[in-house]
Formats: sequence, structure tokens, C-alpha cells
Amino acid sequence: MRINRRGFILSASALAATAGRGIAASPMPELVAAPSRAQLAPDTYPDTAVWSYNGGIPGPEIRLPQGAELTRRLVNNLPEETSIHWHGIRIDNAMDGVPDLTQDAVAPGGSFDYAFRLPDAGTYWYHTHNRSWEQMARGLAGPLIVEEADGPDVDADITLAVSDWRLTREAAMSEDFGMMHDLSHAGRIGNLLTVNGAFEFRQGVKRGDRVRLRLINMATARILSLELPGFDGWIVALDGMPLETPQRAERLTLAPAQRVDVIADVVAEEGGEANLVQFARDGGFALSAFPVAAGGAARGTAPKPLPPNPVPEITLAEARKTRLTMEGGAMGGLSAARYKGERLSMRDLVQQGQVWAFNGTAGLDEAPFFTLDRGEAIRMPMVNDTAFPHGIHLHGHHFREVTAEGLGPWRDTILLDRGETREIVLQGDNPGDWLLHCHMLGHQAAGMKTWFRVL
Ligand code: C2O
Ligand code: CU
Repeated sequence: MRINRRGFILSASALAATAGRGIAASPMPELVAAPSRAQLAPDTYPDTAVWSYNGGIPGPEIRLPQGAELTRRLVNNLPEETSIHWHGIRIDNAMDGVPDLTQDAVAPGGSFDYAFRLPDAGTYWYHTHNRSWEQMARGLAGPLIVEEADGPDVDADITLAVSDWRLTREAAMSEDFGMMHDLSHAGRIGNLLTVNGAFEFRQGVKRGDRVRLRLINMATARILSLELPGFDGWIVALDGMPLETPQRAERLTLAPAQRVDVIADVVAEEGGEANLVQFARDGGFALSAFPVAAGGAARGTAPKPLPPNPVPEITLAEARKTRLTMEGGAMGGLSAARYKGERLSMRDLVQQGQVWAFNGTAGLDEAPFFTLDRGEAIRMPMVNDTAFPHGIHLHGHHFREVTAEGLGPWRDTILLDRGETREIVLQGDNPGDWLLHCHMLGHQAAGMKTWFRVL
């Protein structure tokens, strides 16, 4: 495999920065959303004006034991409204952070207190859910790690949060948010990837060490295609949820919002490096380096599965079926769709910034896409009738894929390639109104979202 050091030239000019306000003392720990600066590009470039939580890119890692209560006061020091969604947490609906569905957006200068229990162990994350295609692209996201009471035997536990930035030649934030071309194509694909906010994240390891790597795709649109040369690894969890049987980790494909937990042994030579490598059209590029020292002790056995989370048993036999068809986008041939209760031609939809639809409807309709009684299951064949891949995310629940071999792993986000159909089964066990949307955030903004109700 060819791995390149990333040579780096920014090709593309604009800028904005506003002063942050002070952080007030309060008994509840705070997440202060505010403008700040971060060194995203290599040191030869200036730093970049970003929006962040508590001044960090990514936001501070929140780490709590399974079953604990998470409490955070969101303080909004941004020039616009915001909110926080706790992605993948089977959360109390009122804490889900979706403006106009579960709470009012938090005004500039305002705050909102989030407090909820963490039912499942695993790798999760939090991010803004207001104008997310722009706010997340400016940096408003952070990792949320829920620890097992009886965690795996590892020498290190390393979060690797990958973000995708679109910067100008001077490493300023490219201000072309929400461009129709991005919305109608693959979304805002950036020109610089960071891991934990660094152009080249580095962490020392020892040969023979066993490490847990928590990969999180925080990009707004980019699908990651990752490998871990110098490690010998097993996938132990997807989207936070443990696999019953760990699988060998080879190429890891992560749609935006997806997570993969890998338990890996360091097999690179002492004095060498293990890497996290992203594959693109032009080859593999190291995103992170793990310089290898001597002294670790190899385990010599495969890792055991992680302890299961208390997810419901799915009763597939009784599940009814509802099809979800993704439509629209560039080269998608959509001629009309319902939007805000009216049937609009494609031309009128575009005027409203809408180009994607689920089952002929763009954006949130008055009525839920489906309603479930508690404990009721629904099978949903998802048909990607568009020319682009989509990463579909359901709030408040994990689901399983229905395959010829049986039920797949629990997930909260599923990637569908263009033209692909995949079926999921979801069991409504968390009452409330929940969003279902594409996590390519430009697609979500431009119509690819709906909602469902659990009674
Ligand atoms: Cu990760 Cu609706 O969000
Ligand atoms: Cu999409």
C-alpha cells in the first residue's frame, strides 16, 4: 500500500470572526458555543476562525459511566440560534435537541439545560442541530464516550474524531455555506481533514500494545474510507453498539455520523509507525501517526466481545412494512414534491432551497411519516432512487438491518449507495417525536428529512 505524507496546498477566499463573550460560573458544567480560533491547517498556515464548544476543536470529550446522568448547560454565545443533539443516545425525547420538534432553539445569549440518563455504553457524539449544515461545518461537534462497567482489556483508549473542513487558500473558513450546488450534489465536501482537530494527530504506542480506537465521522458530507496499517484489529462495535462477534477490521467505511470501535494490536516495528489512513481517488493519506516504541506485551488472542447493551428484543414476525424512497438531487429526475402542505414543481422547490424528498415530500410534514405503539416493530425497505449516496439516521432508537442471513448489527445510521435498497427493522421503545434524516447535512437542509412518532 502506498501511504503518502500529505503534501498540502489549499486551493480556493472569504472570512468572518466575532468576539466570544465570557463564561459565567454555574453549578451545571457548561458547553459554551462561541466563535474561537483553531490551528486546523499545517503550522505554515494561519489559524482558522471556527465555532466551537468551550474553545476546542472538537468540543471537549465527555466521558461517563453507563447508566450515569449527563448534565450540561448549553450557553449560546453565537450570533444565531443553536441547540445540541446527543447523537445515538436512546434519550428522553425532551433532551434530543431538535428545534421545533423537541425544544425551542436557544437564542443568542440564552442557555438550555440538558440532563438525561445514558442507557448504553459505547462511542457517541454530540453536535449542533440548528442550521447544522453550516454550524457543524464551522466546528460545533464533540465526542461522547459512555464506558462499560466491565470494559475490555486494553492499554489505551483513543478517540479519533475525523472532521472535514472547506478552507480558503489562506486557511480561512470558506463561507460558501448552503450553496445549491453542494446541496443538490454530494454536500459540502471539504479540502482538509483533521483528526481531533489536528492536521496530523500523533500519539505514541508500544509494539504489542492492545488499543481501543474509537473512530467517529464528524464530517458534514464526506464518506470516510479508512485503514489502520501497523495495527492488527477487530471491529467490536458499530454506532456505539457491540457486535456479538468481533470482525476483522480491514477497510472501514464510515458514513457521516457513523462510528466504529476497533480493538487493535500494534504490530508495526519498533521505531516505525502505525497509521490511520484515509483512501481517496489519489491513494492513501495518513491522517494520524502512532510512533511505535518498544516494551508492549502482545496478548496473542482475539478480543472478547464487548458486553451487550440493554436494547429491546426485536419481534420481526409481527412487524408491518413501510417503504421509504429517497428521491431528488442533481440527476435525480424529480419533477415535483409536497413541501409545507403544497405540491410544488421542481423549479418552485429549488426556489425554496428544496431538492430532495422522502416518498414525494420534502421537509417535515404536519403528519408523522409513521406512528408506532410502544413495543411495535416496523420493517422499512429504504430505496435510494437518487444519483448520490445517503447516510440515513434515526433519532432516539437504534435499528437493525434485515438481510438474507438474518438481522444485522444495531446501528443508528445506515449508508445507502446510489441505486441501493436496504431494509431495516425498528422497534418503537422510546416515546416521543423523532427525526429521521440524511446525515449528509446539506441533503437534510434541502428536504431529506421526516419524523416519526412513538406513543
Ligand atoms: Cu447526528 Cu439529527 O443528527
Ligand atoms: Cu443524503
